Parts: sequence; C-alpha cells; structure tokens
Amino acid sequence: MKRSFLPALLLLLCTAISALAAPKKIIIDTDPGTDDALAILLALNSPEVQVQAITVVPGNVTAEMGLQNALKLATLANRCDIPVAGGAQHPLAQKLITAEFWHGKNGLADIELPTRCHADPRFGPDLIIELVHEYPHQITLVPVGPLTNIALAVSKDPSIVPLVKEVILMGGSISGGNVNAAAEANIYNDPEAAQIVFNAGFASLTMVGLDVGNKTLFTDRQVQQLQAAPGPMSNFVAQVGRYLLDLSRRFGETGTPMYDPLAMGVTLDRTLVTTQPMHVDVETRGEFTRGETVANRANMVERNVLHGDRYIIEGVDKVAPNTQVCVDVQAQRFLDLLVGRIRGK
Ligand code: BDR
Ligand code: CA
Repeated sequence: MKRSFLPALLLLLCTAISALAAPKKIIIDTDPGTDDALAILLALNSPEVQVQAITVVPGNVTAEMGLQNALKLATLANRCDIPVAGGAQHPLAQKLITAEFWHGKNGLADIELPTRCHADPRFGPDLIIELVHEYPHQITLVPVGPLTNIALAVSKDPSIVPLVKEVILMGGSISGGNVNAAAEANIYNDPEAAQIVFNAGFASLTMVGLDVGNKTLFTDRQVQQLQAAPGPMSNFVAQVGRYLLDLSRRFGETGTPMYDPLAMGVTLDRTLVTTQPMHVDVETRGEFTRGETVANRANMVERNVLHGDRYIIEGVDKVAPNTQVCVDVQAQRFLDLLVGRIRGK
C-alpha cells in the first residue's frame, strides 16, 4: 500500500517544485522613462519572470513617445516577440504632466536607439484584461508609471481583480513626496486612477514607494562595473546611469534612486524588502496633498459618535489593510542584482 503511494507522491512533489520554479508571468505597465528602461531591461534579463506584455501609459513622456521608447527597448533586448501596446492618452481627470526635465528630451537620457519592433494594435488595458483571463491567477502586474491603464482595465472588467495573482507597483510614499511635500510622481500624475487601484480589492498589492527607492542609489561604482563588461545593454545602462548621476549632482546628490528597477527587483526577489500591511488611500481633493498616499499604519480609526452638539470618541474600529507597504530594502543586494543581470549583455 505504502509503496504504490510513493510514486504518486514523488510526482506531486516534482510538479509542485517545478511550479515553484516556473517563471512568473508579468505585465509591465510603464511610462518609459530612464528608470523604466532599466526596469524593463532587468526583467528581460531575469529568468524569474516571463514578460507577457509591455503596456504603455503616459507620464514621464507622452503616450506616443512612451510607445516608441518601449519598442526601442524591446529592440535593444532583441525581444520583438513581446507585445508592446499603447494605452491611455491622458490621465483620468487631469492634464498630463510630462517629465523630460528629469528623463531627457526623448525620455531616454537623450540616447538614440534604433527601433525594429512594431506596436501591438490592441489597446493596453484591453490587452491586460485579455491576458488575465488567459492566465487566471498567474499574472503579476508591475505598474511603474501612473496607474491610468490599470484603473481603466479594472473599471472596464472588474472580474479581472480576483484573477490577478498580485500587483507590485512603483508609486507613493509614506514619508513625503518628490513632486511636492506630499505626493510621489506616479500617483500625482493620476490620483483618481491610483485610488481605484489601491481599493480594487487585489489579493496582493505591494507598494514600492519613494521611502525604499531613495535608499537604492546608483553611483559611479555601478557605472564602472557596467563599463568593465561592455555590451549593447550594459553600455546603454551605463550611459543612462551617467546621465542620471550628472543630474543628481546638480541637486547635490551623489547617487540616483532606482525607483522602477526596484519594483522589478521586488518582483524577482521579494526578500529584498521588508513590508508592513497598511490601509492606503489616495488623497484626491487636498489643497496641498492631492496625490498623497495616505497610509494607515495602525489600521485603525476612531469611532466618533455625534451626541447633541459634539462628537464623542466611543472606541476604535479596525480598517482592513489593502497594501503591503515596503518599509526597508537591502539596497546593496538589489544593486548587485541589477548590475549583475545587465553586465555583459
Ligand atoms: C517615478 O516617477 C517617474 O519619474 C519614474 O519613472 C518613477 O516611476 C518616481 O517617482
Ligand atoms: Ca516610471
């Protein structure tokens, strides 16, 4: 009896192990963008993930320029087989704010790259919906730009929410912004979309925000490591790094934060970060705080009950966390991973 059970058990074990080792199917939603470019190249050089699609959202650059840049990056990586689709043309409820100031006139540190890949004709949010249905419970969404495309997909077909395996996004902060005192750029560029995404009810949503991104400083050391192993991709990443470093120095910094690459790093290896469950809402109305990710660290709110002409606190109510907020990162280990995957490519 025991003997006949053993082969079946072994088979089950092998299936489980190979399932564990199988690459994650991911969709990168991006506004490329210098650090977006590095995140995309990191993914395309990592066996832990299989990129099912790259969908483009306006943010760092316009929708059209972002699409061209994504195609250039797919060309650089020799991956014209990956669908690259355009999406929204503007944020849900405000004008687009582009960031050539930070990313260069062409969004890619003014480095010219050739394009051989062609755009997929599907609308980005529709492609997301299609892939989630094709691979239920298997898709990890990695948004590293404003959340417009993801919000459009969820609003058009809410049935995808429970079918998405996880969302790992770059955006937000629990300690001040980079656009202004309160808001981080990806969230500030489409607060309404972000509020939809944070509260959609995804089984797992991880926020890789400024708090941890600011600790992952790419410096001269990483540029030199890449220059020591020349190749088309490592040369490009070294050039982007140099461009960003020069920019950082103008603002008195000695390194440049790897925001989007870190979100990809967390997708590859979750142990790079420490997270805490929190309920996160996005401020959409504040005079000084529009676009702030308001995180409830204690996951509790006071219960204030009106008695005559005043409120009396009668207790506290629990609030369910909707986000795993990254609060710490093993920065050196992440930078080594990033450079290691790009070197020699
Ligand atoms: C985010 O904003 C963009 O400029 C970067 O690409 C990153 O996604 C950082 O705030
Ligand atoms: Ca980005």
